Amino acid sequence: MKRILLLTTVACLFITGLIAQKRILTASHYTVQKKIECSNGTVVSAHPLASYTGLQILKKGGNAFDAFIATQWMLGVVYPWAGTVGGGGFMVARLSNGKIITLDFRDVAPAAATRDMYIDKNGKGDTHLSQNGSIACSVPSIVAGLFAAHKYAKLPMSVLIQPAIDMAENGFAITLMEANRLNKKKPDFVTNNLVTPLFVKEGGWEEGDILVQKELAETLKRIKLSGSKGFYEGKTAAAIEEEMKKTGGLITKEDLKNYRVKFREPTLFTYKDYTVATMGLPSSGGILLTQMMKMVEKRNIGKLGFHTAASMHLMAEAERRAFADRAEYMGDPDFVKVPVKALTDDKYIEDRMKDFDPLVATKSSAVKPGSVKKESEETTHLSIIDKEGNCIAATTTLNAGYGSGVVINGTGILMNNGMDDFSIQPGVPNMFGAIGGEANAIAPRKRMLSSMSPTIVLKNKKPFLILGTPGGTTIPTSVFQVMLNVMEFGLSTEDAINNLRFHHQWQPDIIFVEEGFPLQVQKELEALGHMVKSREGLGRVELIKILPKKIEAAGDNRGDDDAEGY
Ligand code: DON
Repeated sequence: MKRILLLTTVACLFITGLIAQKRILTASHYTVQKKIECSNGTVVSAHPLASYTGLQILKKGGNAFDAFIATQWMLGVVYPWAGTVGGGGFMVARLSNGKIITLDFRDVAPAAATRDMYIDKNGKGDTHLSQNGSIACSVPSIVAGLFAAHKYAKLPMSVLIQPAIDMAENGFAITLMEANRLNKKKPDFVTNNLVTPLFVKEGGWEEGDILVQKELAETLKRIKLSGSKGFYEGKTAAAIEEEMKKTGGLITKEDLKNYRVKFREPTLFTYKDYTVATMGLPSSGGILLTQMMKMVEKRNIGKLGFHTAASMHLMAEAERRAFADRAEYMGDPDFVKVPVKALTDDKYIEDRMKDFDPLVATKSSAVKPGSVKKESEETTHLSIIDKEGNCIAATTTLNAGYGSGVVINGTGILMNNGMDDFSIQPGVPNMFGAIGGEANAIAPRKRMLSSMSPTIVLKNKKPFLILGTPGGTTIPTSVFQVMLNVMEFGLSTEDAINNLRFHHQWQPDIIFVEEGFPLQVQKELEALGHMVKSREGLGRVELIKILPKKIEAAGDNRGDDDAEGY
């Protein structure tokens, strides 16, 4: 009898073990998994249901591109804060054959946009207009991006979009963070729409409430049926144009039909034994990362130590100088000549650090953009690797959380406020405090300058890190820090992303540190002449580290970010 009991217990433990290993998530019951170690493939994104969808696609035989597309469609449903089809983005990918590609599916200004469209009658740039309502919307481009990426995928689009259609149709339980964010945005949803969208709930949202998005499901079905034309033409495009006409926006059916993605040359640079592949213009991320990494490369930063005043001072000084160039030179390369070669030249970068003093902060007022010869709050990131070794880092955005607050009536599409990423007037800071000038001025069909920095790091020519984050102008500085955390300070995958971060962007002349940053270090930085201010969360990094015998993946603790793998 005793023996039977023992055997039964062992069998039960075995079965329980198996069940525990098999992680099953449903729309109404799911948990966040922050870290996973695996050997085949992994998806890290801002929401468990999205990462989980990507994982199922990998297990079904899809590759990293299939997983990216399915995860992004799903983010559009379960992560309205940043993920909907009303925005744009960038993808950096390394194919299993070693080829690196970058896809620019950045949104563009409508054809009717003009340079001074946000300047009020007193001659002042009005950021309320560039950030709220239909007039703030740029031409959405995520759908075009997903169809362009599909060229590298294995499974039909109908399979990849179906989980998102089902989720929109049947609903899912929202997280506490989503509930709080939706409640906070309520006044904007009410103000910016003629018909109050379903994101507003009388009495307020609570964790676990079910969000059903029937109209969005219908829009996704039209895309399933007619491909990208299901979005850029026909009923969806007509609904977008009608909403714009009624509410003072500029996007027309022609704008939608004319939108085109661009495969661009990747930004590649070496840092010690590593090769970094990241996104070039119209994202400033690639040039900023090249400059910042090169500025610290020969300065023994690893020895200065993690989160010491000395290493932070060095990094902040690099950030300050790089961002001064961003404001002056960077914009859409199809519209302005950006001296990319000169800005990323080793000698030029070293010259920029000539006046670096390890003991004294340089004043931003004394740092001008470098002299080069002119040559001819919301976003989300996902990191993926599959078992063939295809890697994807992709960042997409609505710009602010829930974008412009505009939901296209009858379609469930939440629209971006990407126009605020332009420099609406020289010297007028955008929502991230970034200033700019001519290079990033508004022009019809122009892409607004971005900071999104999806990044893949290679070691001995093999994928080593896949990362990226939201955070506006803090994106390149967060990616910069996380790379150094792994490559110089030896932090573990989770520690590299979860430790507190800091940020300097030239103007304002402040080192922003995340709340809770050790006071002693803040004081030491002040003693060097820095102004230090604390602020809430800097980004949410999704990091994959590929080691010879295993893959580690981690989602940032600052959000519901989630890592799934097998
Ligand atoms: O493209 C950019 O740089 C911005 N639109 C990104 C916005 C963002 O990361 C907001 N997230 N907090």
